[in-house]
Amino acid sequence: MSNYHIKHLEEYYQVYRKSIRDPENFWEEIAGEHFLWRKKWDKVLDWDFKKPEIKWFEGAQLNITENCIDRHLTTKSDQTAILFEPNDPNEEAEHITYGQLHKRVNQFANVLKEQGVKRGDRVCIYVPMIPELAISLLACARIGAIHSVVFAGFSSKALATRINDSDCKMVITADGSYRGSKTIDLKGIVDEALKSCKGVQTVLVAKRINSEITMKAGRDKWLQPLLDKASYKCKAEIMNAEDPLFILYTSGSTGKPKGMVHTTGGYMVYTAYTFKNAFQYKENDVYWCTADIGWITGHSYIVYGPLANGATTVLFEGVPSYPDFGRFWDIVDKHKVNQFYTAPTAIRALAKQGVELIQKYDLSSLKVLGSVGEPINEEAWHWYNDNVGKSKSPIIDSWWQTETGGIMITPIPYVTPTKPTYATLPFIGIQPCLMDEEGKQLKGNQVDGRLCIKFPWPSIARTIWGNHQRYKETYFSAYDNMYFTGDGALRDEVGYYRITGRVDDVIIVSGHNLGTAPIEDAINEHPAISESAIVGFPHDIKGSALYGYITLKDAGESRNHENLRKEINQLISDRIGPISKLDKIQFTTGLPKTRSGKIMRRILRKIASKDTSNLGDTSTLLNPECVQDIMDNAL
Ligand code: WT7
Repeated sequence: MSNYHIKHLEEYYQVYRKSIRDPENFWEEIAGEHFLWRKKWDKVLDWDFKKPEIKWFEGAQLNITENCIDRHLTTKSDQTAILFEPNDPNEEAEHITYGQLHKRVNQFANVLKEQGVKRGDRVCIYVPMIPELAISLLACARIGAIHSVVFAGFSSKALATRINDSDCKMVITADGSYRGSKTIDLKGIVDEALKSCKGVQTVLVAKRINSEITMKAGRDKWLQPLLDKASYKCKAEIMNAEDPLFILYTSGSTGKPKGMVHTTGGYMVYTAYTFKNAFQYKENDVYWCTADIGWITGHSYIVYGPLANGATTVLFEGVPSYPDFGRFWDIVDKHKVNQFYTAPTAIRALAKQGVELIQKYDLSSLKVLGSVGEPINEEAWHWYNDNVGKSKSPIIDSWWQTETGGIMITPIPYVTPTKPTYATLPFIGIQPCLMDEEGKQLKGNQVDGRLCIKFPWPSIARTIWGNHQRYKETYFSAYDNMYFTGDGALRDEVGYYRITGRVDDVIIVSGHNLGTAPIEDAINEHPAISESAIVGFPHDIKGSALYGYITLKDAGESRNHENLRKEINQLISDRIGPISKLDKIQFTTGLPKTRSGKIMRRILRKIASKDTSNLGDTSTLLNPECVQDIMDNAL
C-alpha cells in the first residue's frame, strides 16, 4: 500500500527519500490509490523550468468535485462536510452534510449554466465567509468554469482590476457582510467596480444582511430564487488534469497583482495529501482553519484539501474579537475542534488579551495547532503552545505560498519534533535548497540564503494569467533551473529550515502579502505628492506594519500634515483596501537614491525599524544629505 498517511519519523524519512529518488512512481502511487479518475494519465510528469512548463498527470481526466463530494456519499452522506459558524454567536451554527453539499453544489452549478457560464469561462467570486462562498467555488469546478475569488475586503478598484485582468463574465456576491459589530455594503462595492468592467454580464447576489440594495435590471439577480428552481442533479464536467481550476491574485513587488493559475489534478492530489498528513486528520475529527477563503489558505485548507479527505471543515464568518476576544476558544469548545490553523498575527493579538479568556473554555479537544502566513516569533510560539495547546498539541509552523498551492515546509505533528520558529523539514516530495546572491547553492547545514525549490511538485502554479513571461521572470530567472520563492531562510545543524522573511519588496502585514508598488502608485495619485516609498517596520501584533516616506511637490507649502495623512490613507483604502493603510507617515524633503535613481529602501527600512547604528554604505547615494534629515524627523 502507498504511503498516504505517515505516522512516525522513520517512515517520514523513508517516504521522503522515495519521493525524491523516484518522484514519478511515488506520485503515481499516491494519485492512483486515493482519488477518483475518469481516465488515468499517460504521463505522470513533464517539466522544464527553463520554459517554464510543468505538467502533472497529463492525459488524465477527472472532476475535483466528484473527489471532494460524490465519492464520499456512500459512507458519509450524513456526516457534516461544512460546519458554518455565523458572525453572531446567537445565530445557530449550520451543519451541511456531504449529502446536502452535493445537492447545493449541483443546484448552484445548474444556475451557473442557466446563466450562460461555460467550461473555461472565468467567474469572479466576491462573497463573505458564508456557505455560499465555498459552494460557489465547488459549483464552478463542477462545470469546469475557472473561479477567481477576490477577498471581500478589497476595494472596488482592486476588485475591478482583478475582474478585468481575467475577463470574468460573471460576479457572484452578497448584499452585504457582517464583520463583528459592523456591516459592509458589498453590493455597493461591486456596483462601483462594475462601472469599469464591461465584460460582466451577470451578477448573482446572495442575501445575507437583508439590506436595501439596488439591483440593475438585466444584470443583477438574486441567487436564492434561482437556486430554488434549479435541479439538484448536475453531471460533473470531465476535466483534463491540466485544465485550470482557479485563478487567485497575489501581490508582486512591482506591477499589478499576479493572477496565479492552478490546475486540477496535481492541485487536488497535493492539497489532499498535505492536509491528511500536516494536520494528521483522522475520521470524524473537526478541523478549523480561521483564514478567509479569499486567500490560498482557504482554497486549499478550508475547501479542497479537507473535502477531498471527507473531513468536517469549519467555516467561520466572524472575527476573533467579536463579541469578545474569547470567540475563537468559544468555537473550539462548542464544536470540539481537533485541528486549529491560524496566523501569527491573530495569535499575537489574542496573546495581548490575557489568559482568562482562554480559561473560560474547554480546549481539551485540540490535538494539532497550526500557524501560517508569516514567521512566528518565539514569544507568540510559546504563548500558543503553553496556553492554547497546554504543551500537548504540537504546533505546525507551515511555510508555503499562493504560488505553491499547498504546504511545502512543515513539521508533521506527532512525527517531526518541533522547534520554536522553525518550519522544520520539507514535506514529502519537496526539494528545497538555499542559494547565495551569486547563484551558488549553499551545501551543508548552518547556512543562510535564499530559498529555492529544485524540483516540481504537483500543486505548483503553472503560469500567471495572461502573462507567462512575467511568471518566468518572477520565479524562474533569479536562479538557473529553480523556482525562487522570494523568501530568505536558514538551515540549522540538523537540517531544519527557518524562514527569515521576504527578500524582495513584498511586506507581510497581519499575514497579508502586500506589494509596495501598488501602494506607492495609489499615494502618488495625490496631487500634492511628488513621490513616496513604503517599507515595513516591526509591529507587535501585525508582525510588520507599513511606514511611508512621502515627499510633497511643494515642500514649503504649509499644508496640514494630519489632514494629508488622512487623505493618503483614504486614497489607499479606495484604491487597494483598508489592509494596506499606513501606520506611520513621515513627510520628507527627499528620498535616498542611488545614482541610477533607485530608492535605497535598505536605509529607509533601518530608519523605520529604529536601527540606525549602522546604515551601511551610503557613499553611492546621489543625495546623501537627505538621510540625516530623515533620521532627525523619524517617527
Ligand atoms: C509568503 C506567502 C500560504 C499561506 C498564506 C500566505 C510568508 C507564509 C510562512 C511561515 C514564515 C511564511 C512567506 C511567503 N509565509 N507562511 N510559516 N513562516 N513565512 O500566502 O500570501 O502567498 O504569502 O508568506 O514570506 O513567501 P501568500
